[in-house]
Amino acid sequence: MSANIIDGNLLSKKLRSHVAERAAALTRQGHQPGLAVILVGDSPASQVYVRNKIKACEDVGIHSVFEKYDATLSEADLLARVEALNHDTRIHGILVQLPLPAHIDSHKVIEAIAADKDVDGFHVNNAGLLMTGQPLFRPCTPYGVMKMLESIDYPVRGANAVVVGASNIVGKPQAMLLLQAGATVTICNSKTRDLGHHTRNADILVVATGKRNIVTADMVKPGAVVLDVGMNRDDAGKLCGDVDYGPCAEVAGWITPVPGGVGPMTITMLLVNTIEAAERN
Ligand code: GUN
Repeated sequence: MSANIIDGNLLSKKLRSHVAERAAALTRQGHQPGLAVILVGDSPASQVYVRNKIKACEDVGIHSVFEKYDATLSEADLLARVEALNHDTRIHGILVQLPLPAHIDSHKVIEAIAADKDVDGFHVNNAGLLMTGQPLFRPCTPYGVMKMLESIDYPVRGANAVVVGASNIVGKPQAMLLLQAGATVTICNSKTRDLGHHTRNADILVVATGKRNIVTADMVKPGAVVLDVGMNRDDAGKLCGDVDYGPCAEVAGWITPVPGGVGPMTITMLLVNTIEAAERN
């Protein structure tokens, strides 16, 4: 058996064309949506992510402001920039790329972003709203995963979903979104004993650990949907996910590739959140 591929590029293209229409409508009314992206330091991976986000904004007609700071930027100066953007009426979404340098408290910075401009959905108010079933902004990567399941009409209600990884950015909000969609959810973490025991029970398997090949074919339930959030490099320097793709694709019913799977969806959902922020405004 060979899995069907859920193509994140193709789905993104469809969703982004709708985003572009909404951006154009707002712009015609004199309210072009605007996103501010802040990058502190020069992590090569973060620079690539941020560049892709800015480029995606340009492509759909969202005004973007990119602020890049040296890794020595003080926490107080970063907080001051966030505060200025909170009051900037041309900016509807603010994204501070993570991780931040160790001397900056990322919780403090996220909490400084106005909750109604927090298009990442990381602010505690937004995490609380998500948890209580009244989300304002859904974090982009888990939101993208849900859209991928929707695109294949997957019956999430009643399904067994296993999320491998418990980060605030992906694992925890992913589990909440799946739970709210009616799945029975298990969250695994780096201390989980016998990971395969859990993953083999998953109709829906979301893997977000940053560890290459953490999920191998013997850990996948035949016919399962496997959604790979990982972004790693193999020994040859080629991009790969957390899932041992080729062998897992022989067992799964559906699978997302890396690259071209969840990655583009993360950026697409950031655009969706930014449009929604601007429309609410
Ligand atoms: N670092 C890795 N993923 C993300 C994301 O979705 N948003 C932000 N702000 N930083 C990240």
